[in-house]
Amino acid sequence: MSSAFLQCISCAAIFPTTQPLYQCSHCGDLLDVNYTLDPLDPTEIKERWRQRRLSRRPIDISGVWRYRELIPFYGQEENIITYPEGNTALLSAPRSARYAGLRSLQVKHQGFNPTGSFKDNGMTTGVTQAQILGMRAVMCASTGNTSASMAAYAARAGMLGIVFIPEGQVAFGKLAQSLDFGALTLQIRGDFDVAMSLVREIAPEIGIYILNSVNPFRLEGQKTIAIELLDQRGWDVPDRIVVPGGNLGNSSSLGKGFKELYDWGFIDHMPRITIVQAEGADPLYKTITSADQESLVTVYARTLATAIKIGRPVSWKKAMRAMTWTDGWVTEVSEQEIADAKAIIGQDGIGCEPASATTLAGVRKLMNQGTDKPISDDEDIVLLLTGQVLKDPDYTVRYHRGELYEDYVTETRVIHSTGKIRSTYANAPIEVPPDKEVIKRLIEERLSQLPKI
Ligand code: F0G
Repeated sequence: MSSAFLQCISCAAIFPTTQPLYQCSHCGDLLDVNYTLDPLDPTEIKERWRQRRLSRRPIDISGVWRYRELIPFYGQEENIITYPEGNTALLSAPRSARYAGLRSLQVKHQGFNPTGSFKDNGMTTGVTQAQILGMRAVMCASTGNTSASMAAYAARAGMLGIVFIPEGQVAFGKLAQSLDFGALTLQIRGDFDVAMSLVREIAPEIGIYILNSVNPFRLEGQKTIAIELLDQRGWDVPDRIVVPGGNLGNSSSLGKGFKELYDWGFIDHMPRITIVQAEGADPLYKTITSADQESLVTVYARTLATAIKIGRPVSWKKAMRAMTWTDGWVTEVSEQEIADAKAIIGQDGIGCEPASATTLAGVRKLMNQGTDKPISDDEDIVLLLTGQVLKDPDYTVRYHRGELYEDYVTETRVIHSTGKIRSTYANAPIEVPPDKEVIKRLIEERLSQLPKI
């Protein structure tokens, strides 16, 4: 029988999983869920995972719980709250590859999840643990995707979801989900970092479970993204995996996932994790490039990629650990670079939200600029696209119409005057009269621009 325990990432103190705990009661640092595992035979388990794809049981169909041998904290199967989630597509992206200067490129699109973002991978494990603890309500601060996901899973589990979101800074697709799924939705007059501190103070005082990535059970589900990716690739480890960095739960969980797969004999080397932040929300980049990497350099975050508009990421130490384990790197990209990369991913017929596009922008930048960890054009790279394009349609339409400004806030409070983003790859809608001849002429003109076969 395997058993799970909580362990401090700094002083290694151990705690039981039977209480809601988010930090070490000795030194205050973050906690991992760790396991005493029965001996594992990776070849046999990989085969078992393949066989489960033929099963009709919800926990076999789930792209998280299919890999349950590596997340054995759930006790009984009845505790598990699953949609199912995961099973996200691994796609080739030839136009994006050319844009970055690579021979080929794959994207793993976490936007294929039930609520449209990678948060579902971690929310199924977080809400399952809430169920085990007998919680009636769960709480999070969010830039929109965690709240959408938590609201959905809470509804499925019959719990009350309580979300704290920064007022006017959450894309409408995400806000709509949280409202529709019945969460108590509190728009805080402040940014994400303010909302996060409030949640960390209020939730323990009133006995409500926190489902931000400070909760280590969230990260257990998210680490299965690493497992599913390798399973999809027949256990061929890529050279590099590139992820956006916000609150830094995702990069932390991938680091833990790859490290465990390596330690437990499933793979013989790890991919390098590259984290990409927006220039206006780059605390990890500032920290890793500072002389003293022991304390976080916080920033007042500004970016149109609202999902990653975070200046004080809670999981920064775990992300640093992931960088060390995988010989990884952090870079930052501008608003213009994010907007153009997003349009190029769209041209591949894939689409994603702005935060996800930092990955392509980051690879392109590391190809073109001399850094101490450059990328070569024959590297085998996977971008992790974190959210789907419909999450933030306003951004996309504005870009294509030439109306995207760095200082606009949301569709509820449109403010723009300076910092116009160039719509380099715009595909604007065209207004036409209901006139057959005019319309035919327009289409023919467009057809005449197609490359000759
Ligand atoms: N991409 C998207 C689409 C996100 O929603 C987030 C985070 C990230 C990337 C960054 O991931 O925080 O694990 O480093 N969104 C959180 C939220 C903060 O509240 O939805 P991270």
